[in-house]
Amino acid sequence: MPIPNLQVALDHSDVSSAVETAVIVGNEIDIIEVGTVLLLEIGSEVIKTLRHIFPDKIIIADTKCADAGGTVAKNVANRGATWMTCMCNATLATMQSATKEIEEVQVELYGNWTYEEAQTWLNAGIRQVIYHQSRDALLAGETWGEKDLTKVNKLIEMGFKVSVTGGLNVDTLPLFKGMDIYTFIVGRGITETDNPIEAVRALKNKINEVWRD
Ligand code: 5RP
Repeated sequence: MPIPNLQVALDHSDVSSAVETAVIVGNEIDIIEVGTVLLLEIGSEVIKTLRHIFPDKIIIADTKCADAGGTVAKNVANRGATWMTCMCNATLATMQSATKEIEEVQVELYGNWTYEEAQTWLNAGIRQVIYHQSRDALLAGETWGEKDLTKVNKLIEMGFKVSVTGGLNVDTLPLFKGMDIYTFIVGRGITETDNPIEAVRALKNKINEVWRD
């Protein structure tokens, strides 16, 4: 089974701290995400800065796009994004128009969605989904559990590359042991620590330790 990737989510509210963190962790992380918070606060120009610093990295624009997929995709792709995200409740037309303008679209799974809908995304050529525990649900007391692992496993069986995210840290990663997780997406568990590079190394070590067996 491949070793899962590690993605940093830059959800800062200002450019300088986002870029500073990216420079610190960028060479040891597999994927850089321009987070929704950062995109909403600063705008997609920040993607250009990150692309300039990291010409060869996968950079994801976490647009959580719900409409105007083609335009949003074209804009972020022009600024250097490799992939972008669409909400699971966007229409298939939105997702399809986005896929014409950018290398890949990842579907963000929040709230209510069905496996039948997921099959229509696969049929439309969408290969990636992000299984999300929302920040607000976690704050309200939700935790990762069996119900999540069952859904993640089913999505993997269907043929998706599944990334998971939401309050993850070194203690929660082993919950997914034995599962073919494509990418672990970690925001605050890296960016809000005293030492982001040490946090990245600890996460990478944990991933290697759990998935090497
Ligand atoms: C919020 C997001 C976050 O970027 C992602 O879930 C990482 O967050 P966390 O700080 O919980 O690790 O997409 O919608």
